[in-house]
Amino acid sequence: TLKWIIQDDEDYNSQAINQAAALLKQGQTVAFPTETVYGLGADATNSAAVLKIFEAKGRPQDNPLIAHVATLEQLTKLVDNIQPYVKKLIDTFSPGPITYVLPSNGVCAENVTAGLSTIGVRIPDHPVAQALLRNCDIPIAAPSANISGKPSPTTAYHVFEDLQGKIAGILDGGATGVGVESTVIDCTEAIPTILRPGGITVEQLQSVVGDINVDPALVSATERPKAPGMKYRHYSPEVPLWLVQGTSLEIQQVIDKEQANGVKIAVLASASTAKQLRAEEIFSLGDNMNEIAAHLYDALRKYKSSDVDLIVCEAFSEVGIGQAVMNRLKKAASKYMEN
Ligand code: TXA
Ligand code: MG
Repeated sequence: TLKWIIQDDEDYNSQAINQAAALLKQGQTVAFPTETVYGLGADATNSAAVLKIFEAKGRPQDNPLIAHVATLEQLTKLVDNIQPYVKKLIDTFSPGPITYVLPSNGVCAENVTAGLSTIGVRIPDHPVAQALLRNCDIPIAAPSANISGKPSPTTAYHVFEDLQGKIAGILDGGATGVGVESTVIDCTEAIPTILRPGGITVEQLQSVVGDINVDPALVSATERPKAPGMKYRHYSPEVPLWLVQGTSLEIQQVIDKEQANGVKIAVLASASTAKQLRAEEIFSLGDNMNEIAAHLYDALRKYKSSDVDLIVCEAFSEVGIGQAVMNRLKKAASKYMEN
């Protein structure tokens, strides 16, 4: 008896928002759109409600959740010690696709932070998320609304595919915009550290605070990541994915060699590369990196083992939002071929 609640009026002050907020206030789980991906929400101050998130997703209990709030005022009620540079980051990038890891003051339930002394907090920018959070007036814990290990959902239908029968509702606000998750940045030290690349780019962050560290685990495969969630296998499509770096000609050679062995292939590539490739299925991710990010998870979910045996995906340059896209693709890939 999942409630599929459609939010489609223009003032975001509708019956739909009220219905979703009522379920959340009752301690139920509701998926809702943000500008990055759909989140699976529950009252962050209610540990029984938060537990339902872990159960629905099959999420390991040691992986902390992000607390979502509508305003800076609400954010400050969840944390201690906001250093001056954090105020600067918040002023510049929030509401938006960025999560700050800050010392927790214990207002949120302990299972939100998986027992850590810090908490990830985010002010999303999506009008539906904003309306919902303002209506609830409580912090909402929300990981991406997918089964753990699968690509994050960028449409209400993706959520339905993964979580039907396991959650109370979906607030459907259409496809999300950014398409990859928020940047997670640890702001507990004098110099901030990026734990997960995302919607706000390293270049954007550097332009505001100058010095920024990057979690060594993002660069070297042998380091243990500081964001618990980054150690898990993630974003896995149903069929194996090979990430291939090189010219169109080099990518085509990989395709041809596999096809000669009877392997059925779907290709994911930028519009310009896609035009030059031949395979059973060709999926153009878009003309530029923003479009590629927006379409990535839909593409990773599209191909089932009944359609193809292998996904071959073009590797992109790791600048701007390309860093987040390549971070996700490297986790999704069973093989990375560098030419
Ligand atoms: O865009 C997003 O961030 C989406 C939308 C729904 O807001 N949410 C999302 O949540 O991607 P999730 O749970 O799928 O990813 C949160 C990441 C995980 O890697 C988790 O380990 C890390 O943030 N994280 C959360 N709290 C943390 C903390 N206190 N310290 C370190 N890492 C933390
Ligand atoms: Mg996730």
